[in-house]
Amino acid sequence: MNPRTLLITGANGEIGHGLVSRLAELNGDRMIALDLHTPDPLIRERCHRVVAGDIADIALLDTLAATYDFAAVYHLAALLSTKSERQPRLANRVNVDGTLNLLEMAVAQARQQERPIKFLYPSSIAVYGLPDLETKRRTGKVREDAWCEPRTMYGINKLYCERLGRYYECYYRQLDAQVLPGLLDFRALRFPGLISAATVPTGGTSDYAPEMLHAAAAGKRYACFVREDTRIPFMAMPDAVQALLDLEAAPREQLTRKVYNVGSFNPSASEVAERVRQAFPEAQVHFEPDAKRQVIVDSWPVDVDDSAARADWNWQPAYDLDRAFEEYLIPAVTKRYRRHA
Ligand SMILES: NC(=O)c1ccc[n+]([C@@H]2O[C@H](COP(=O)([O-])OP(=O)(O)OC[C@H]3O[C@@H](n4cnc5c(N)ncnc54)[C@H](O)[C@@H]3O)[C@@H](O)[C@H]2O)c1
Repeated sequence: MNPRTLLITGANGEIGHGLVSRLAELNGDRMIALDLHTPDPLIRERCHRVVAGDIADIALLDTLAATYDFAAVYHLAALLSTKSERQPRLANRVNVDGTLNLLEMAVAQARQQERPIKFLYPSSIAVYGLPDLETKRRTGKVREDAWCEPRTMYGINKLYCERLGRYYECYYRQLDAQVLPGLLDFRALRFPGLISAATVPTGGTSDYAPEMLHAAAAGKRYACFVREDTRIPFMAMPDAVQALLDLEAAPREQLTRKVYNVGSFNPSASEVAERVRQAFPEAQVHFEPDAKRQVIVDSWPVDVDDSAARADWNWQPAYDLDRAFEEYLIPAVTKRYRRHA
């Protein structure tokens, strides 16, 4: 069988690193990596081609589409939540216009190839917006269709792009004389906060958990920007990558939704600090809540109901809280910072 060609945008980011490494281990898919920043050697070695460029550059996307027949697009490039809140217009340009450009490219390619192209889209729990802490506590796990009232630019961008994906798959140019629906196969995951041992996050509002861990391993003090009782869902990076791959592999007829919650564990910030202190007794973590960032995290749910993902495509995280810390995060960050010492 000929290798498939995959386009991975934002390949130089946190998920991109995990995804490219995993795909390289798995099969012979040809990966074309696109990122604003020149992808680093780990990505370059594993990809058929790396391109430094902007997803806003339609001419660049046209050139890529003219050169390759993509079987799937993993559209990871985005401006994350904190950065998006600081630069909302830029966020809209990257997160919305950039996604629109890729959807246009994918649907045009699908028409040309006369076969569906899969479009994998990492959305976020930032699409949810609980009005206050009492409602958040009372609600518990949220289902996909509840509380979609985001209060951040990033969450609004993500929710709109989920809906754009549905439009491009189901209703694209529905007034045309000849309507060709179904050529785009759009699949989205709403990720919780992700914790990677290999990379340090930048620009997200769930970054306090990974930052705490990496700071402790590096022997640095850490001031946590949320209250100790703050609770949102998290996931270990290998599970996030596996979720993307499993959703891509799922037979289309088994999917009852375009957008799925995926969850794993949901420690409070003080429970994360406790785990970090157990592993690194010298860790200097203290809590200095930033009122403005706190309000945002408080609007995100304590957990997600991912029963649809479990039922439709057998979603099952490999890492619960114990296993994530004991078998993945602590050993890998310890090794990483010992090497850098
Ligand atoms: N990390 C998380 O906790 C998390 C949680 C939920 C959803 N997500 C989503 O997953 C995706 C990947 O997240 P990540 O954690 O790897 O983020 P990241 O910030 O580490 O990576 C994003 C990458 O996109 C690139 N990029 C930004 N603007 C670009 C542009 N205009 N053109 C081309 N490339 C551009 C950046 O250079 C970066 O390498 C994003 O869509 C993000 O919203 C992440």
